[in-house]
Amino acid sequence: MPLHLLTTTTISLLLLLSTLSTADDAAVMSKLLSALTPSPSGWDTKTPFCKWSNVNCDPSNAFVTSINLDSQSLSGTLPSELNQLSFLKSLSLQKNSLSGPLPSFSNMSTLGQIFLDSNSFSSIPPDFLLGCTHLQTISISENHNLSPWQIPLYWSESTNLQTIYASNASIFGGIPDFFDSFTNLQNLRLSYNNITGILPTSFGGSEIANLWLNNQLQGLSGGIDILSSMSQIYQVWLHANSFTGPLPDLSKCTNLFDLQLRDNQFTGVVPPSLMDLPNLVNISLANNKFQGPLPQFHNGVKVTLGGTNGFCGTNPGPCDPQVTALLAVAGAFGYPMLLAQSWQGNDCCGGWSFVTCDPQGKNVTMVSLGKQHLSGTISPAFANLTSLRNLYLNDNNLTGSVPEILTTLPQLQNFDVSNNNLAGPRPVFPPRVKFMYSGNVLLEKNQTAGGNGSGGGTLGSGSNSGSPGGNASGSGSSKESPVSAGMIAGIVIAVTVFVGVLVFVSYKCYAKRRHKGIGKVEGPEKGSKMVKANVAGGLNGHGGAPSELENKGSYDHNDIPIFEVRNAPNGNYSVETRLAGTFGYLAPEYAATGRVTTKVDVYAFGVVLMEIITGRKALDENMSDERSHLVTWFRRVLANKDNIQKAIDSTLDPDEETSESICKVAELAGHCTAREPHQRPDMGHAVNVLGPLVEQWKPSKFDEEESYCIDLHMSLPQALQRWQADEGTSRMFDDFSYNQTQSSIPSKPVGLADTFSSTDCR
Ligand SMILES: *[C@@H]1O[C@H](CO)[C@@H](O)[C@H](O)[C@H]1NC(C)=O
Ligand SMILES: *[C@@H]1O[C@H](CO)[C@@H](O)[C@H](O)[C@H]1NC(C)=O
Ligand SMILES: *[C@@H]1O[C@H](CO)[C@@H](O)[C@H](O)[C@H]1NC(C)=O
Ligand SMILES: *[C@@H]1O[C@H](CO)[C@@H](O)[C@H](O)[C@H]1NC(C)=O
Ligand SMILES: *[C@@H]1O[C@H](CO)[C@@H](O)[C@H](O)[C@H]1NC(C)=O
Ligand SMILES: *[C@@H]1O[C@H](CO)[C@@H](O)[C@H](O)[C@H]1NC(C)=O
Ligand SMILES: *[C@@H]1O[C@H](CO)[C@@H](O)[C@H](O)[C@H]1NC(C)=O
Ligand SMILES: *[C@@H]1O[C@H](CO)[C@@H](O)[C@H](O)[C@H]1NC(C)=O
Ligand SMILES: *[C@@H]1O[C@H](CO)[C@@H](O)[C@H](O)[C@H]1NC(C)=O
Ligand SMILES: *[C@@H]1O[C@H](CO)[C@@H](O)[C@H](O)[C@H]1NC(C)=O
Repeated sequence: MPLHLLTTTTISLLLLLSTLSTADDAAVMSKLLSALTPSPSGWDTKTPFCKWSNVNCDPSNAFVTSINLDSQSLSGTLPSELNQLSFLKSLSLQKNSLSGPLPSFSNMSTLGQIFLDSNSFSSIPPDFLLGCTHLQTISISENHNLSPWQIPLYWSESTNLQTIYASNASIFGGIPDFFDSFTNLQNLRLSYNNITGILPTSFGGSEIANLWLNNQLQGLSGGIDILSSMSQIYQVWLHANSFTGPLPDLSKCTNLFDLQLRDNQFTGVVPPSLMDLPNLVNISLANNKFQGPLPQFHNGVKVTLGGTNGFCGTNPGPCDPQVTALLAVAGAFGYPMLLAQSWQGNDCCGGWSFVTCDPQGKNVTMVSLGKQHLSGTISPAFANLTSLRNLYLNDNNLTGSVPEILTTLPQLQNFDVSNNNLAGPRPVFPPRVKFMYSGNVLLEKNQTAGGNGSGGGTLGSGSNSGSPGGNASGSGSSKESPVSAGMIAGIVIAVTVFVGVLVFVSYKCYAKRRHKGIGKVEGPEKGSKMVKANVAGGLNGHGGAPSELENKGSYDHNDIPIFEVRNAPNGNYSVETRLAGTFGYLAPEYAATGRVTTKVDVYAFGVVLMEIITGRKALDENMSDERSHLVTWFRRVLANKDNIQKAIDSTLDPDEETSESICKVAELAGHCTAREPHQRPDMGHAVNVLGPLVEQWKPSKFDEEESYCIDLHMSLPQALQRWQADEGTSRMFDDFSYNQTQSSIPSKPVGLADTFSSTDCR
């Protein structure tokens, strides 16, 4: 082929290609022109498109690089061929009245800016900006007529994105977790959509400075902890959503100037670090469920606080100490909404749910949060609720360890953490505390060094009931549980201890009287033991000295032991009649439930204790109205320790140490007869309270031959254990009877009471 021919062909080909491309852009531009009404000013078909107003081309004048039709009052639709403008870098069509479906701009790899906002487009194609790898700005806000669409995942391929404006754009669904794809995204505005779900984790560490997510139809939810790692953040609008949980520590967000959080469901205490943000000038917190001290911002900061929040005061300053402690408790659970709804203001005894206070309405005595789907940890701040007696945290999803400091709670009696996910060392509580921890595999296996769990003597074995796989008896849930074998055993043990003490003291008094009789005088070193024995005298020696015991049948059909005390000074006195009175007294509770519950029996036990302490019947019609109901009257008496002394059966005449013990028993009786069944302790607890009082009882001196078959070298609890070991628990009570069976228990000390006067025991 001749050279010139080749050259000519090549040139013609190049020309052809060039005219083809030009023809393409020209054709697209002419389609665009004809689609718009009115025609944009300076646009007409007679002029080359590169000469049209607000249209820029590349230097060859073959390719369009930018179109700017901002605010031209245009209507019409966009032609689908727009994406053939293969060198287009910037398209500005905002603030017009364009309508119809948006075309696809896919594969426009040079496109950097696209402004479509404030129009009336009707829909967005699935491949809207697919393959636009050089996009820096997407602006599609204020297109109120768009049919619902979701933020496409492929936007993550546009790694150069700096700005996404898509407010009021009918977006629904979640925010994709793709923000680690963008190295330079600074503005994200998605207000007034129907976006749901949580803030994506990839916000953390992003460069986003301007974040508008406010006014979602259903609302974004979850917490906003991720903000704490958005150190570039400058303006955050999250108002009018459904965010929950507490505010994070934003102290790293030193650029933050405008924080709008109003109208959400935020809970908890506003972190002090928020008030120290150096650049904050605008903040709204109104209409949430914030708690704790009213936050105080620096002068010049524009703050809105009011609405549904539950700050503890109208001025900044600390809350009541118990409120502070309970808020710390709530904080360790992540400030759940469950608690924020009522744990508001500064009076935790004024109706906070799950919190019970003393009758004076001053001090928190019970926190009952069993089965509340709580997660998080157990706050050591419980230790600041010094009047706390009962703490139920069972059947939740708590993690972490049981704070050791809770063993210092001076009044604690029941502490139930069973069925959680607690781990770590298991603290050893004083024997008075019934600590229930079963159902925490990692906790059951672990224990604080040096402790053996059941810290409290032999009788304490029932207290730290956490054996793996076993159900803690009287599981501490505030629900009533029907009578179980375990419960009956508990009552039997308690009554056994009680009666054992009675018998033993009878014996002791008898022994002492004998010694006196033969002129022996107790040495001073025996004194303390005598005092302890006298406790029993005080507790059990109703109407004066303990006297004759006589079996009257071991059980009635309710498994209530019936025995008789023959009281020397006042003549025969049947405990059975008393108990009958007690249970008549209890009739409503039995009749209402139609079943015997642990709590009813604990109540009965409390009534019996009261009868013994006061020497009065449960219901005494001979008394004045206000005194005729023993329980009502006695519970009033209990409010003042001095009163208790006066209420004690006068014939008991206890010394100081004894009255202290009587006070303990009186208090126990008070708890047992609490109005609300769930406030009553269980029998195991009663045993734990009574246990230490009898533990050291041992006669100071005795004659072997007079020991009535009991090994008096043993302490009472030891003896109890022996009996329990010898006989099955179920039969224990039968054996512990006084009808001259061959048990190892002292049977009726013949002639004891008959010759005995109340003064002998003191
Ligand atoms: C965009 O490019 C891909 C391949 O690069 C192609 O498969 C697709 O059809 C193109 N889309 C359009 C609308 O041209
Ligand atoms: C979104 O549209 C509503 C009306 O539908 C309007 O009140 C609101 O101001 C718009 N949001 C923004 C951010 O302009
Ligand atoms: C908002 O989105 C939810 C689901 O994300 C949908 O069920 C609801 O219908 C949407 N509301 C409107 C008004 O589009
Ligand atoms: C504070 O924010 C609100 C809404 O977010 C805005 O209207 C107001 O102008 C802002 N004020 C200042 C001082 O920035
Ligand atoms: C309440 O607790 C305080 C501090 O622990 C104590 O001083 C006060 O006696 C308690 N009040 C009652 C009624 O128990
Ligand atoms: C108890 O309260 C005091 C004073 O408010 C506080 O300093 C202390 O940290 C609290 N203890 C716990 C364990 O939270
Ligand atoms: C319990 O908590 C753990 C960790 O906090 C969580 O993974 C688990 O889903 C929770 N379980 C329930 C039933 O809430
Ligand atoms: C037991 O407690 C120790 C001390 O806290 C802890 O290091 C260990 O991991 C715990 N073991 C289990 C099985 O929880
Ligand atoms: C723990 O119990 C075992 C056996 O019951 C006993 O040998 C050991 O001395 C106890 N340890 C402590 C610290 O009480
Ligand atoms: C514990 O009690 C629950 C319900 O009362 C029962 O389903 C479960 O079998 C019991 N577990 C044991 C080991 O007794």
